[in-house]
Amino acid sequence: MKNKMFFFILSVKEFLFIVVFFIFSLSFSPKELNALEGNLGKSLFDNHCAGCHLNGGNIIRRSKNLKISSLKRNGIEDSNEIAKIARQGIGIMDGYENLLGENGDQIVADWIWDQAQKAWIQG
Ligand code: HEC
Repeated sequence: MKNKMFFFILSVKEFLFIVVFFIFSLSFSPKELNALEGNLGKSLFDNHCAGCHLNGGNIIRRSKNLKISSLKRNGIEDSNEIAKIARQGIGIMDGYENLLGENGDQIVADWIWDQAQKAWIQG
């Protein structure tokens, strides 16, 4: 009897563990995942782009910066275009495909596009 009781308590514990784990994984909302991706976008930018594009500028060709007016003037209409430039380069800028890692081109591009919408005012 005692043994059976013990086994019962154990399985309740296990059951609770599974429930808690399940709720935890559900509570990881898309918004939080987006925030994680945002952090990754920012760190990719800081590591690979900010050297020339600090705060969305361009220290080499000032008119080819990452502000929305410049992007649109140069025919860059969405984050996919930025991802392509990040991968392949453009004009005198090299491509960074090898440094950005899997999906990094799109993640950094999404982050840049988002910053451009916010006029690069961090917050
Ligand atoms: C070594 C300096 C340098 C680095 C690092 C660099 N860029 Fe550039 N970037 C440039 C230059 C120079 C241009 C202008 C190229 C041209 O038109 O000849 C440019 C242009 C661009 C443009 C086009 C902007 C416009 O308004 O036309 C985008 C988008 C861009 N870079 C994204 C990136 C991203 C994303 C990264 C990081 C993965 C990055 N760049 C890293 C120098 C750099």
